[in-house]
Amino acid sequence: MCGIVGYIGTRQAQDVLISGLSKLEYRGYDSAGVAIRDGGHISVEKKAGKLANLATVLEQRPLHGTLGIGHTRWATHGLPNDTNAHPHASEDGKIVIIHNGIIENYLPLKEALLKRGHKFSSETDSEVLVHLIEEKYQQAGGDLYEAVRLALGDVRGAYGIVVTHVDHREIVAARTVSPMVMGVGEGEMFLASDVPALLPYTREMVFLHDGDMVVLHDDGFKVTDLKGNEVRREIEHIDWDAEAAEKGGYDSYMMKEIYEQPNALTNTLIGRLHDDTGQVNLDINLDPASFKRISIIACGTAFYAGMVGEYLIEQLARIPVDIDVASEYRYRNPLVSENTLAIVMSQSGETIDTLEALREAKKYGAKTLGIINAKGSSMTREVDDTLYIHAGPEIGVASTKAYTSMVSAMLMLALWLGRARGTLDETAGRKLLHSARELPRLVEAALEPERVENIRAIAEKYADSRDFLFLGRGVNSPTAYEGALKLKEISYIHAEAYAAGEMKHGPIALIDEHMPVVVIATESKLLEKTISNVQEVRARKGRVILLLSDGDTENARYGDDVIYVPRADEMVSPVVNAVALQLLSIFIAQKLGKDVDKPRNLAKAVTVE
Ligand code: F6R
Repeated sequence: MCGIVGYIGTRQAQDVLISGLSKLEYRGYDSAGVAIRDGGHISVEKKAGKLANLATVLEQRPLHGTLGIGHTRWATHGLPNDTNAHPHASEDGKIVIIHNGIIENYLPLKEALLKRGHKFSSETDSEVLVHLIEEKYQQAGGDLYEAVRLALGDVRGAYGIVVTHVDHREIVAARTVSPMVMGVGEGEMFLASDVPALLPYTREMVFLHDGDMVVLHDDGFKVTDLKGNEVRREIEHIDWDAEAAEKGGYDSYMMKEIYEQPNALTNTLIGRLHDDTGQVNLDINLDPASFKRISIIACGTAFYAGMVGEYLIEQLARIPVDIDVASEYRYRNPLVSENTLAIVMSQSGETIDTLEALREAKKYGAKTLGIINAKGSSMTREVDDTLYIHAGPEIGVASTKAYTSMVSAMLMLALWLGRARGTLDETAGRKLLHSARELPRLVEAALEPERVENIRAIAEKYADSRDFLFLGRGVNSPTAYEGALKLKEISYIHAEAYAAGEMKHGPIALIDEHMPVVVIATESKLLEKTISNVQEVRARKGRVILLLSDGDTENARYGDDVIYVPRADEMVSPVVNAVALQLLSIFIAQKLGKDVDKPRNLAKAVTVE
């Protein structure tokens, strides 16, 4: 986790670091710090709490200098306090480092360093790095790059590390697992954990690969591997609109991203579904006849998008699909062979559990496909092919547009597989393709002001509930899970989800007049059965919030409150229904005064196990 920014050039580094870190706070926000080199001196300032705390101190006592490194932290080892915040300095104050990730063998390293007389000032795993580098610096005859390279040879784990030394006008960085991108300017160079931090300064970027090291000077850079061999990395032009990474008029990134969904979906679908020919063109190098089963692997919201995918692929392409949360997949000795297609799904492309699960699947010869948002992320470099969802940067910690875009990508994949394998006939294929193309318009309709106001009123009515239950069936049972996850992560209200038919096998015991039950009862072949489940809730005095398709006045009487959503083909309905549940959650959270963009204990990209 954590966010990193580095700068060397002619500007005041403090300004670049604070501005860059403010774009990365979604990666972690329990403390922040900067180190700025001014000629013969490096000054460090760090503060527990949000970045604003550090920014206030720096406004009062600015640090001058044109070389600096900065960090926002999401604690793994050691409490989130001033001391454990990064940067960490060597005992003589000459070397400072910032580290994102986890050093797995830090305990033996620390013991050995203590024995050799080093004094530690923090409880972090990261601090071992600075002491190690200090030792290696002596061995390497004052060569900072070489010192970092040698030190990294002793550590096991994940790192994005950025280092500077008072006697050198350079920044040395390296990455393994943790993401890092370099920005190339005119007489200035930048580093960051993610693109948005650099967009105000440059659009020319280099995505560092796993195992890359880099040395930055004012006028250039050199990339090597960990053995010291020079490697070539292309400079890519990033055309993301800087505005796209800002809140753009909304009160939160999450709300902005909810409203961006028609656009994001257009980008996901564009050029891939052809109404005229009925063809799906995903531009992926995958032979649909080359595998006999599919394993979908993901975490959190991406996992629920995968559940929708499981349903769609099995329905449309008749291929057996299994789905795992990545953290389980890695350790359960899964049945994988060359006949398996492993699909990893991830917004960030950096989630460590998913990345490691991907590596596990590859070990056994599986073909691999990523359904991923972040361009150039670690997973995209390790899969055989990527189906980018093109949702644009997602800053809000709770995933919204990436979810609906992932579900849409799965829909396209299922359609493509179904047509290619002959399990979906042309008429049905064309009909579904047309429905998929309608998604941006349907989601736009789901965001019409009257509907949104209705959801807001319902949210405010139920905001003081202690628990919620979400029910759905078939392709919308994952929608129920996703709805419950959204609510709990941003409002801290306990919420559970069940496939509606499962409710009577236990959860029904929870239902009383205090329990709101959100039921997804939109147009589907199981609608009648879902309504029977609603009756079971009502008979126990549960308060029912019904999601119904436009025009369903018949079933409206079974709900204490009704959220109407645009009528959609059942197979595409999870996308439309998810939007209504996102709104319900965000309005409840806002009514409770929660900071929806920075829910407690969470981070946007979970790059630690
Ligand atoms: C929830 C949420 C998380 C992520 C999960 C996987 O709203 O955002 O559950 O979905 O951490 O992240 P990615 O998709 O980046 O692998």
